[in-house]
Amino acid sequence: MGLGLLASRTLRSTSSKLLTTNPKSTILRTIVSTPDLHKPDAAAEPAAPEPDLPKRTPIAGARVHFPNPDDVIEVFVDGYPVKIPKGMTVLQACSVAGVDIPRFCYHDRLSIAGNCRMCLVEVEKSPKPVASCAMPALPGMKIKTDTPIAKKAREGVMEFLLMNHPLDCPICDQGGECDLQDQSMAFGSDRGRFTETKRSVVDKNLGPLVKTVMTRCIQCTRCVRFATEIAGVQDLGMLGRGSGEEIGTYVEKLMTSELSGNVIDICPVGALTSKPFAFKARNWELKGTETIDVTDAVGSNIRIDSRGPEVMRIVPRLNEDINEEWISDKTRFCYDGLKRQRLNDPMIRDNDGRFKPVSWHDALAVVAEVIHQVKPEEIVGVAGKLSDAESMMLLKDFLNKMGSNNIWCEGNGKNVNADLRSGYLLNSGISGLEKADCFLLVGTQVKCSSKILNCGN
Ligand code: SF4
Ligand code: FES
Repeated sequence: MGLGLLASRTLRSTSSKLLTTNPKSTILRTIVSTPDLHKPDAAAEPAAPEPDLPKRTPIAGARVHFPNPDDVIEVFVDGYPVKIPKGMTVLQACSVAGVDIPRFCYHDRLSIAGNCRMCLVEVEKSPKPVASCAMPALPGMKIKTDTPIAKKAREGVMEFLLMNHPLDCPICDQGGECDLQDQSMAFGSDRGRFTETKRSVVDKNLGPLVKTVMTRCIQCTRCVRFATEIAGVQDLGMLGRGSGEEIGTYVEKLMTSELSGNVIDICPVGALTSKPFAFKARNWELKGTETIDVTDAVGSNIRIDSRGPEVMRIVPRLNEDINEEWISDKTRFCYDGLKRQRLNDPMIRDNDGRFKPVSWHDALAVVAEVIHQVKPEEIVGVAGKLSDAESMMLLKDFLNKMGSNNIWCEGNGKNVNADLRSGYLLNSGISGLEKADCFLLVGTQVKCSSKILNCGN
Protein backbone atom coordinates (compact mmCIF):
# COMPACT_ATOMS: atom_id res chain seq x y z
CA MET A 1 0.00 0.00 0.00
CA GLY A 2 1.32 3.36 -0.96
CA LEU A 3 1.86 6.02 1.68
CA GLY A 4 -0.58 8.35 -0.09
CA LEU A 5 -3.38 5.79 -0.01
CA LEU A 6 -2.69 5.01 3.65
CA ALA A 7 -2.84 8.68 4.57
CA SER A 8 -6.10 9.26 2.68
CA ARG A 9 -7.78 6.23 4.43
CA THR A 10 -6.64 7.46 7.82
CA LEU A 11 -7.99 10.93 7.08
CA ARG A 12 -11.30 9.50 5.86
CA SER A 13 -11.76 7.35 8.97
CA THR A 14 -10.80 10.21 11.29
CA SER A 15 -13.20 12.66 9.64
CA SER A 16 -16.05 10.10 9.64
CA LYS A 17 -15.34 9.54 13.35
CA LEU A 18 -15.52 13.26 14.00
CA LEU A 19 -18.75 13.59 12.05
CA THR A 20 -20.49 10.81 14.00
CA THR A 21 -19.30 11.68 17.49
CA ASN A 22 -19.95 15.42 17.44
CA PRO A 23 -21.62 16.80 14.35
CA LYS A 24 -21.58 20.35 15.67
CA SER A 25 -17.84 20.56 16.03
CA THR A 26 -17.09 19.47 12.50
CA ILE A 27 -13.59 20.19 11.27
CA LEU A 28 -13.81 20.79 7.56
CA ARG A 29 -10.68 19.89 5.74
CA THR A 30 -10.60 20.79 2.12
CA ILE A 31 -8.44 18.72 -0.15
CA VAL A 32 -7.78 20.58 -3.34
CA SER A 33 -7.22 18.41 -6.32
CA THR A 34 -5.07 19.62 -9.22
CA PRO A 35 -6.40 17.71 -12.19
CA ASP A 36 -4.82 20.26 -14.55
CA LEU A 37 -1.36 19.20 -13.50
CA HIS A 38 -2.07 15.57 -14.35
CA LYS A 39 -3.02 16.36 -17.90
CA PRO A 40 -0.33 15.09 -20.32
CA ASP A 41 -0.27 18.39 -22.22
CA ALA A 42 0.09 20.54 -19.06
CA ALA A 43 3.79 21.16 -19.64
CA ALA A 44 3.10 22.52 -23.09
CA GLU A 45 0.68 25.13 -21.80
CA PRO A 46 2.03 28.70 -21.55
CA ALA A 47 3.54 29.62 -18.19
CA ALA A 48 2.07 32.37 -16.09
CA PRO A 49 3.13 35.78 -17.42
CA GLU A 50 6.20 37.31 -15.77
CA PRO A 51 5.80 40.57 -13.89
CA ASP A 52 5.49 43.45 -16.29
CA LEU A 53 8.96 45.05 -16.30
CA PRO A 54 9.88 47.70 -18.84
CA LYS A 55 12.18 46.38 -21.55
CA ARG A 56 15.84 47.29 -21.15
CA THR A 57 18.45 47.73 -23.86
CA PRO A 58 21.97 46.44 -23.07
CA ILE A 59 24.47 49.25 -22.54
CA ALA A 60 26.75 50.06 -25.49
CA GLY A 61 25.48 47.04 -27.41
CA ALA A 62 26.70 44.62 -24.69
CA ARG A 63 26.00 41.14 -25.97
CA VAL A 64 26.30 37.78 -24.29
CA HIS A 65 27.40 34.61 -25.95
CA PHE A 66 26.71 31.23 -24.37
CA PRO A 67 29.16 28.69 -25.80
CA ASN A 68 28.09 26.13 -23.20
CA PRO A 69 24.43 26.04 -22.09
CA ASP A 70 25.51 24.65 -18.67
CA ASP A 71 27.38 27.86 -17.98
CA VAL A 72 24.29 30.06 -17.97
CA ILE A 73 23.32 31.69 -14.69
CA GLU A 74 20.48 34.04 -13.86
CA VAL A 75 20.90 37.16 -11.75
CA PHE A 76 18.47 39.94 -10.92
CA VAL A 77 19.40 43.55 -11.54
CA ASP A 78 16.92 45.91 -9.86
CA GLY A 79 14.44 43.02 -9.99
CA TYR A 80 14.99 42.47 -13.71
CA PRO A 81 16.08 38.85 -14.49
CA VAL A 82 19.03 38.54 -16.82
CA LYS A 83 20.84 35.46 -18.11
CA ILE A 84 24.63 35.69 -18.34
CA PRO A 85 27.49 33.23 -18.71
CA LYS A 86 29.35 32.14 -15.57
CA GLY A 87 32.42 34.25 -14.80
CA MET A 88 30.93 37.64 -15.69
CA THR A 89 31.29 40.39 -13.13
CA VAL A 90 28.39 42.18 -11.49
CA LEU A 91 29.21 45.30 -13.54
CA GLN A 92 29.04 43.32 -16.80
CA ALA A 93 25.74 41.74 -15.73
CA CYS A 94 24.36 45.22 -15.09
CA SER A 95 25.47 46.34 -18.57
CA VAL A 96 23.65 43.38 -20.13
CA ALA A 97 20.59 44.29 -18.07
CA GLY A 98 20.73 47.83 -19.45
CA VAL A 99 22.00 49.55 -16.31
CA ASP A 100 25.03 51.78 -16.82
CA ILE A 101 27.27 51.62 -13.76
CA PRO A 102 29.62 54.59 -13.33
CA ARG A 103 33.28 53.62 -13.44
CA PHE A 104 36.75 55.15 -13.73
CA CYS A 105 39.33 52.41 -13.32
CA TYR A 106 37.42 49.62 -15.08
CA HIS A 107 38.13 49.15 -18.79
CA ASP A 108 36.87 46.23 -20.86
CA ARG A 109 40.28 45.44 -22.33
CA LEU A 110 42.43 45.89 -19.26
CA SER A 111 42.89 43.83 -16.12
CA ILE A 112 40.64 44.69 -13.17
CA ALA A 113 42.17 47.05 -10.63
CA GLY A 114 39.13 47.88 -8.48
CA ASN A 115 40.71 50.98 -7.00
CA CYS A 116 38.39 53.88 -7.81
CA ARG A 117 35.29 52.46 -6.00
CA MET A 118 32.95 54.44 -8.25
CA CYS A 119 31.10 51.30 -9.33
CA LEU A 120 29.63 50.49 -5.90
CA VAL A 121 26.26 48.70 -5.92
CA GLU A 122 24.20 46.97 -3.29
CA VAL A 123 24.01 43.18 -3.31
CA GLU A 124 21.42 41.37 -1.23
CA LYS A 125 22.86 39.82 1.95
CA SER A 126 26.09 41.81 1.64
CA PRO A 127 26.59 44.10 4.63
CA LYS A 128 28.38 46.81 2.60
CA PRO A 129 28.13 48.10 -0.98
CA VAL A 130 30.41 46.07 -3.26
CA ALA A 131 32.70 47.16 -6.11
CA SER A 132 30.77 45.66 -9.01
CA CYS A 133 33.75 45.57 -11.41
CA ALA A 134 35.66 43.22 -9.15
CA MET A 135 32.82 41.03 -7.88
CA PRO A 136 31.89 37.91 -9.89
CA ALA A 137 28.15 37.47 -10.46
CA LEU A 138 26.74 34.39 -8.73
CA PRO A 139 23.55 32.46 -9.57
CA GLY A 140 20.42 34.10 -8.18
CA MET A 141 22.32 37.20 -7.02
CA LYS A 142 20.05 40.16 -6.37
CA ILE A 143 21.82 43.36 -7.40
CA LYS A 144 20.42 46.77 -6.61
CA THR A 145 21.87 49.76 -8.38
CA ASP A 146 19.57 52.61 -7.50
CA THR A 147 18.98 52.25 -3.78
CA PRO A 148 19.72 55.11 -1.37
CA ILE A 149 22.79 53.19 -0.08
CA ALA A 150 24.28 52.80 -3.59
CA LYS A 151 23.58 56.44 -4.45
CA LYS A 152 25.10 57.68 -1.20
CA ALA A 153 28.18 55.49 -1.70
CA ARG A 154 28.77 56.99 -5.15
CA GLU A 155 28.31 60.51 -3.89
CA GLY A 156 30.87 59.80 -1.18
CA VAL A 157 33.40 58.42 -3.67
CA MET A 158 32.89 61.41 -5.94
CA GLU A 159 33.37 63.79 -3.03
CA PHE A 160 36.70 62.13 -2.23
CA LEU A 161 37.83 62.27 -5.87
CA LEU A 162 37.01 65.97 -6.10
CA MET A 163 38.85 66.62 -2.85
CA ASN A 164 42.09 66.88 -4.80
CA HIS A 165 40.99 67.22 -8.41
CA PRO A 166 41.44 70.83 -9.54
CA LEU A 167 38.37 72.63 -10.84
CA ASP A 168 40.07 73.84 -14.00
CA CYS A 169 37.48 72.49 -16.43
CA PRO A 170 37.32 75.85 -18.32
CA ILE A 171 40.98 75.52 -19.32
CA CYS A 172 41.17 71.74 -19.53
CA ASP A 173 41.37 70.08 -22.96
CA GLN A 174 39.28 67.17 -21.73
CA GLY A 175 36.36 69.53 -21.04
CA GLY A 176 33.23 68.29 -22.80
CA GLU A 177 34.43 64.70 -23.07
CA CYS A 178 35.56 64.09 -19.50
CA ASP A 179 34.25 61.08 -17.55
CA LEU A 180 34.76 62.90 -14.25
CA GLN A 181 32.70 65.87 -15.44
CA ASP A 182 29.90 63.65 -16.72
CA GLN A 183 29.78 61.33 -13.75
CA SER A 184 29.96 64.06 -11.15
CA MET A 185 26.94 65.63 -12.83
CA ALA A 186 25.06 62.31 -12.94
CA PHE A 187 26.10 60.66 -9.69
CA GLY A 188 27.82 63.29 -7.54
CA SER A 189 26.54 65.58 -4.85
CA ASP A 190 26.04 69.29 -5.41
CA ARG A 191 28.48 70.20 -2.61
CA GLY A 192 31.59 68.91 -0.90
CA ARG A 193 32.71 69.11 2.70
CA PHE A 194 36.45 69.42 2.14
CA THR A 195 37.86 72.88 2.58
CA GLU A 196 41.54 71.89 2.79
CA THR A 197 44.04 73.00 0.19
CA LYS A 198 44.19 70.66 -2.78
CA ARG A 199 47.43 68.77 -3.30
CA SER A 200 49.56 69.42 -6.37
CA VAL A 201 51.69 67.01 -8.37
CA VAL A 202 54.61 67.84 -10.64
CA ASP A 203 53.90 67.23 -14.35
CA LYS A 204 55.87 64.49 -16.12
CA ASN A 205 57.50 64.76 -19.53
CA LEU A 206 56.23 61.80 -21.55
CA GLY A 207 57.47 63.15 -24.91
CA PRO A 208 56.19 65.36 -27.73
CA LEU A 209 52.82 63.64 -28.07
CA VAL A 210 51.27 63.22 -24.63
CA LYS A 211 50.74 66.26 -22.43
CA THR A 212 50.50 65.68 -18.68
CA VAL A 213 48.76 67.70 -15.98
CA MET A 214 49.27 65.26 -13.14
CA THR A 215 47.40 67.28 -10.51
CA ARG A 216 44.25 66.21 -12.35
CA CYS A 217 45.09 62.48 -12.05
CA ILE A 218 42.66 60.37 -10.01
CA GLN A 219 45.05 57.37 -9.80
CA CYS A 220 42.80 55.00 -11.69
CA THR A 221 45.94 53.28 -13.14
CA ARG A 222 44.35 52.75 -16.54
CA CYS A 223 47.42 54.27 -18.20
CA VAL A 224 49.77 52.00 -16.24
CA ARG A 225 47.80 48.89 -17.16
CA PHE A 226 47.57 49.98 -20.81
CA ALA A 227 51.34 50.48 -21.00
CA THR A 228 52.09 47.12 -19.38
CA GLU A 229 49.38 44.92 -20.86
CA ILE A 230 48.68 46.36 -24.32
CA ALA A 231 51.70 48.42 -25.35
CA GLY A 232 54.07 45.97 -23.67
CA VAL A 233 56.33 48.61 -22.07
CA GLN A 234 56.93 49.00 -18.35
CA ASP A 235 57.33 52.77 -18.63
CA LEU A 236 54.57 53.95 -16.29
CA GLY A 237 53.90 53.06 -12.69
CA MET A 238 52.45 54.24 -9.41
CA LEU A 239 54.85 55.92 -7.02
CA GLY A 240 54.27 56.77 -3.37
CA ARG A 241 51.33 55.94 -1.15
CA GLY A 242 48.41 57.81 0.39
CA SER A 243 48.27 61.47 -0.51
CA GLY A 244 51.79 61.15 -1.96
CA GLU A 245 50.60 58.69 -4.60
CA GLU A 246 51.33 59.71 -8.18
CA ILE A 247 51.72 58.27 -11.66
CA GLY A 248 55.20 58.57 -13.13
CA THR A 249 57.98 56.93 -15.07
CA TYR A 250 60.07 55.94 -11.97
CA VAL A 251 63.24 57.56 -13.33
CA GLU A 252 62.81 60.54 -15.63
CA LYS A 253 62.29 59.21 -19.15
CA LEU A 254 59.92 59.49 -22.10
CA MET A 255 57.22 57.01 -22.96
CA THR A 256 58.79 54.85 -25.66
CA SER A 257 55.83 52.99 -27.11
CA GLU A 258 54.51 53.59 -30.65
CA LEU A 259 51.03 53.28 -29.14
CA SER A 260 51.53 55.91 -26.45
CA GLY A 261 48.75 58.17 -27.81
CA ASN A 262 46.10 55.69 -26.65
CA VAL A 263 46.61 56.76 -23.03
CA ILE A 264 45.02 60.06 -24.11
CA ASP A 265 41.79 58.21 -24.91
CA ILE A 266 41.67 55.95 -21.88
CA CYS A 267 42.55 58.58 -19.25
CA PRO A 268 39.10 59.36 -17.80
CA VAL A 269 40.14 62.88 -16.76
CA GLY A 270 42.34 65.57 -18.29
CA ALA A 271 45.61 64.31 -16.80
CA LEU A 272 46.85 62.90 -20.12
CA THR A 273 45.86 64.85 -23.22
CA SER A 274 47.17 65.37 -26.73
CA LYS A 275 50.09 67.80 -26.91
CA PRO A 276 49.68 68.78 -30.58
CA PHE A 277 45.93 69.33 -29.99
CA ALA A 278 46.38 71.35 -26.77
CA PHE A 279 44.19 74.49 -26.66
CA LYS A 280 43.35 74.11 -30.38
CA ALA A 281 39.61 73.32 -30.23
CA ARG A 282 36.73 72.20 -28.07
CA ASN A 283 35.24 68.84 -28.90
CA TRP A 284 31.77 70.26 -29.59
CA GLU A 285 33.21 72.45 -32.35
CA LEU A 286 34.44 69.43 -34.29
CA LYS A 287 32.75 67.47 -37.04
CA GLY A 288 33.62 63.77 -37.04
CA THR A 289 34.09 61.84 -40.28
CA GLU A 290 34.40 58.07 -39.96
CA THR A 291 37.01 56.59 -42.24
CA ILE A 292 39.92 54.14 -42.58
CA ASP A 293 43.57 54.92 -41.92
CA VAL A 294 45.84 54.69 -44.97
CA THR A 295 49.20 55.24 -43.32
CA ASP A 296 49.89 51.55 -42.90
CA ALA A 297 48.57 48.23 -44.19
CA VAL A 298 46.45 47.52 -41.11
CA GLY A 299 43.52 49.72 -42.17
CA SER A 300 42.68 50.90 -38.65
CA ASN A 301 39.19 52.34 -38.22
CA ILE A 302 39.43 56.02 -37.36
CA ARG A 303 37.39 59.17 -37.01
CA ILE A 304 38.80 62.40 -38.38
CA ASP A 305 37.65 65.41 -36.40
CA SER A 306 37.71 68.63 -38.40
CA ARG A 307 36.73 72.23 -37.89
CA GLY A 308 35.76 73.79 -41.19
CA PRO A 309 38.30 72.59 -43.74
CA GLU A 310 41.02 71.94 -41.16
CA VAL A 311 41.77 68.49 -39.71
CA MET A 312 42.13 68.97 -35.96
CA ARG A 313 42.71 65.47 -34.66
CA ILE A 314 42.35 61.75 -35.38
CA VAL A 315 40.85 59.30 -32.91
CA PRO A 316 40.18 55.54 -33.11
CA ARG A 317 36.90 53.86 -33.90
CA LEU A 318 35.93 50.48 -32.55
CA ASN A 319 36.49 47.50 -34.83
CA GLU A 320 36.88 44.22 -32.98
CA ASP A 321 38.38 42.44 -35.99
CA ILE A 322 41.11 44.97 -36.79
CA ASN A 323 42.30 47.60 -34.36
CA GLU A 324 39.84 46.98 -31.49
CA GLU A 325 39.91 50.51 -30.04
CA TRP A 326 43.59 51.38 -30.40
CA ILE A 327 45.58 53.21 -33.09
CA SER A 328 49.29 53.82 -33.52
CA ASP A 329 50.88 57.21 -32.91
CA LYS A 330 51.63 57.48 -36.63
CA THR A 331 47.92 57.12 -37.42
CA ARG A 332 46.89 59.49 -34.63
CA PHE A 333 49.30 62.31 -35.37
CA CYS A 334 49.89 62.00 -39.13
CA TYR A 335 47.50 64.92 -39.79
CA ASP A 336 50.45 67.13 -38.87
CA GLY A 337 51.78 66.37 -42.35
CA LEU A 338 48.71 67.98 -43.92
CA LYS A 339 49.75 71.38 -42.59
CA ARG A 340 53.49 71.56 -42.16
CA GLN A 341 56.45 71.15 -44.52
CA ARG A 342 54.11 70.22 -47.30
CA LEU A 343 54.61 70.42 -51.07
CA ASN A 344 51.36 71.96 -52.18
CA ASP A 345 52.20 72.90 -55.77
CA PRO A 346 53.78 70.90 -58.57
CA MET A 347 57.20 72.26 -59.61
CA ILE A 348 59.17 72.16 -62.83
CA ARG A 349 62.90 72.71 -63.12
CA ASP A 350 63.51 75.80 -65.23
CA ASN A 351 66.48 76.57 -67.49
CA ASP A 352 68.58 77.71 -64.50
CA GLY A 353 68.13 74.32 -62.85
CA ARG A 354 65.82 75.74 -60.19
CA PHE A 355 62.40 74.43 -59.29
CA LYS A 356 59.56 76.81 -59.93
CA PRO A 357 55.91 76.26 -58.94
CA VAL A 358 53.48 75.78 -61.81
CA SER A 359 49.81 74.91 -62.11
CA TRP A 360 48.67 71.26 -62.25
CA HIS A 361 47.54 71.83 -65.85
CA ASP A 362 51.03 72.92 -66.94
CA ALA A 363 52.73 70.16 -64.98
CA LEU A 364 50.57 67.41 -66.50
CA ALA A 365 51.07 68.88 -69.98
CA VAL A 366 54.85 68.52 -69.52
CA VAL A 367 54.41 64.94 -68.27
CA ALA A 368 52.25 64.05 -71.32
CA GLU A 369 54.80 65.60 -73.68
CA VAL A 370 57.73 63.71 -72.20
CA ILE A 371 55.89 60.41 -71.91
CA HIS A 372 55.09 60.37 -75.61
CA GLN A 373 58.74 60.91 -76.53
CA VAL A 374 60.01 57.72 -74.87
CA LYS A 375 59.44 54.05 -75.52
CA PRO A 376 56.97 52.34 -73.11
CA GLU A 377 59.64 49.97 -71.73
CA GLU A 378 61.76 52.99 -70.74
CA ILE A 379 59.06 54.42 -68.48
CA VAL A 380 59.53 53.65 -64.76
CA GLY A 381 57.08 54.43 -61.96
CA VAL A 382 58.57 55.00 -58.49
CA ALA A 383 56.23 54.97 -55.50
CA GLY A 384 57.30 57.04 -52.50
CA LYS A 385 57.56 55.44 -49.09
CA LEU A 386 54.67 57.49 -47.75
CA SER A 387 52.27 56.90 -50.66
CA ASP A 388 48.93 55.34 -49.86
CA ALA A 389 47.78 52.09 -51.44
CA GLU A 390 45.14 53.68 -53.67
CA SER A 391 47.60 56.15 -55.26
CA MET A 392 50.14 53.39 -55.89
CA MET A 393 47.50 51.20 -57.49
CA LEU A 394 46.44 54.08 -59.78
CA LEU A 395 50.07 54.70 -60.80
CA LYS A 396 50.51 51.03 -61.57
CA ASP A 397 47.33 50.88 -63.67
CA PHE A 398 48.38 54.05 -65.51
CA LEU A 399 51.83 52.66 -66.37
CA ASN A 400 50.32 49.35 -67.45
CA LYS A 401 48.01 51.26 -69.82
CA MET A 402 51.06 53.04 -71.23
CA GLY A 403 52.63 49.64 -71.92
CA SER A 404 55.20 49.62 -69.09
CA ASN A 405 55.42 47.27 -66.15
CA ASN A 406 58.46 48.86 -64.49
CA ILE A 407 57.26 49.57 -60.99
CA TRP A 408 59.63 50.45 -58.19
CA CYS A 409 59.22 51.42 -54.59
CA GLU A 410 61.39 53.93 -52.83
CA GLY A 411 63.62 52.37 -50.17
CA ASN A 412 65.32 49.02 -50.04
CA GLY A 413 62.38 46.81 -49.06
CA LYS A 414 61.19 43.77 -50.96
CA ASN A 415 59.18 44.26 -54.14
CA VAL A 416 56.15 42.14 -53.56
CA ASN A 417 54.13 41.30 -56.62
CA ALA A 418 50.83 43.08 -56.06
CA ASP A 419 48.95 41.56 -59.00
CA LEU A 420 47.40 38.83 -56.87
CA ARG A 421 45.75 39.70 -53.57
CA SER A 422 47.14 36.58 -51.95
CA GLY A 423 50.63 38.06 -52.42
CA TYR A 424 50.09 40.75 -49.83
CA LEU A 425 47.27 39.45 -47.64
CA LEU A 426 47.77 37.56 -44.42
CA ASN A 427 46.64 33.94 -44.36
CA SER A 428 44.14 34.77 -41.62
CA GLY A 429 42.40 37.96 -40.57
CA ILE A 430 44.11 40.20 -38.03
CA SER A 431 41.96 38.91 -35.20
CA GLY A 432 42.98 35.36 -36.16
CA LEU A 433 46.63 36.15 -35.36
CA GLU A 434 45.92 35.56 -31.69
CA LYS A 435 45.32 31.89 -32.40
CA ALA A 436 48.46 31.36 -34.51
CA ASP A 437 51.20 29.10 -33.12
CA CYS A 438 54.05 30.92 -34.83
CA PHE A 439 54.70 33.70 -37.34
CA LEU A 440 57.06 33.85 -40.29
CA LEU A 441 57.87 37.46 -41.14
CA VAL A 442 59.63 38.11 -44.45
CA GLY A 443 61.36 41.42 -45.10
CA THR A 444 59.38 43.40 -42.56
CA GLN A 445 59.57 44.78 -39.05
CA VAL A 446 56.05 45.04 -37.68
CA LYS A 447 57.16 47.35 -34.88
CA CYS A 448 57.71 50.00 -37.59
CA SER A 449 55.36 49.00 -40.38
CA SER A 450 52.20 47.80 -38.57
CA LYS A 451 52.48 48.85 -34.96
CA ILE A 452 49.02 47.70 -33.97
CA LEU A 453 50.01 44.11 -34.81
CA ASN A 454 52.96 44.45 -32.49
CA CYS A 455 50.97 45.39 -29.40
CA GLY A 456 50.69 42.96 -26.55
CA ASN A 457 46.93 42.19 -26.56
S1 SF4 B 1 46.92 59.71 -15.60
FE1 SF4 B 1 44.77 59.37 -16.18
S2 SF4 B 1 44.73 57.19 -16.77
FE2 SF4 B 1 46.61 57.50 -15.60
S3 SF4 B 1 46.07 56.99 -13.49
FE3 SF4 B 1 45.80 59.21 -13.70
S4 SF4 B 1 43.64 59.47 -14.23
FE4 SF4 B 1 44.13 57.33 -14.59
S1 FES C 1 35.34 50.80 -11.68
FE1 FES C 1 35.08 49.42 -10.02
S2 FES C 1 36.50 50.10 -8.57
FE2 FES C 1 36.87 51.40 -10.26
